[in-house]
Amino acid sequence: MSFGPTANQSIASRAGVLRKRLGTTGPVKLVRAPGRVNLIGEHTDYNEGLVLPAAIDREFLILFEPWDRPEVQMTALDMDETRSFAFEGLSPETRGARSWIDYVAGTAWAMREAGLPIRGFRGVMQSTIPVGSGLSSSAALEMASTWALAVPGTPRPATGVMAAIAQRAENRYVGVNCGIMDQFASAAGEAGHALLIDCRTNTFKTTPMPADLSLVVCDTGSPHRLDASAYNTRRSECELGVKLIAEREPGVTALRDVDEEMLARNRDRLPEVVARRCEHVVKEDGRVMATVVALRDGDLDALGRLFAASHASLRDLYEVSSAELDAMVEIANEVPGVVASRMTGAGFGGCTVNLVRPGAEEALQDAVMANYGKRTGLTPRVFIVAAVEGAGEVELDA
Ligand code: GLA
Repeated sequence: MSFGPTANQSIASRAGVLRKRLGTTGPVKLVRAPGRVNLIGEHTDYNEGLVLPAAIDREFLILFEPWDRPEVQMTALDMDETRSFAFEGLSPETRGARSWIDYVAGTAWAMREAGLPIRGFRGVMQSTIPVGSGLSSSAALEMASTWALAVPGTPRPATGVMAAIAQRAENRYVGVNCGIMDQFASAAGEAGHALLIDCRTNTFKTTPMPADLSLVVCDTGSPHRLDASAYNTRRSECELGVKLIAEREPGVTALRDVDEEMLARNRDRLPEVVARRCEHVVKEDGRVMATVVALRDGDLDALGRLFAASHASLRDLYEVSSAELDAMVEIANEVPGVVASRMTGAGFGGCTVNLVRPGAEEALQDAVMANYGKRTGLTPRVFIVAAVEGAGEVELDA
């Protein structure tokens, strides 16, 4: 099973293609940044809560030659399109028509705003992260850009700080009000591990992925539009919940400060829909911690229950699932050997994440191929992913 023509190609051979396209024999640099899949902890990051993503072996590469000029010129190989921007006067106010280059330009802007020196380059980029699947291709492009733009030899801020800078690029320059999870996962990934990220302190711990479980992603083929208005509405509903609870409960500044008991005693004062959103977030943080324990103990039943509870909560309380995501989870849950299945990412389309006993991946793929199209009329994709290390520079053979 694989996704896309290049998913299994080595970095060296992909870099060779990029070098050819860049058309230079001079010194070049290569940086990479992975996409991510979130195991559990959904819509908790912007509530200063906990998330448990893993960086995956679908990634952006940028091959470039550094320039003295204060500008960037980049070609997107997959789109056969070249774009550029100058550092001078770069600001969200002067951004042009929407384009993929905004993620690079926004990162340059946010790095400068944070007081980091940047350098120009001429580069070519290529990605094996399926676009629009909710596997964070934009965050990966931002993190790859932080590496390409950085001036060699200057100190690099801590991972969480760098992720926050890239998040700011997306929030303020690109104009998508996401939390910090995607950039953080792309920055901090570790091979064979998931990342327990505390989105209050912007710190993380790694937690090993069980060697006897495969990580399988099922793409519903219904484009995840980080439906900006629905996402922003959820965010403001959570903020309203915090505001109303804080009127009675001193010290509450985010849903992270609210536990189930506190929510219960304030529930009547919240609009019904706000109460449901808050209930999801408050309980999801608990499920993240329980999942870390279940992964450690190899407790497969608990993993299945936790993923199912998270999915049901996102469907019924947070209302960000979709008929397609629900169908995909239902199909997976019928397959022997599928341990746990749920929607992953923002929702409204995109992918499910599945923990599967080795040997059952094929059966999951067969079941999805046989049933999903019939139920939805859409074409699904199923692929196994591995947890990999986070963004950085790749040594090139001379
Ligand atoms: C998107 C956002 C993240 C996070 C998830 C939901 O992926 O970019 O910050 O909020 O949705 O968990």
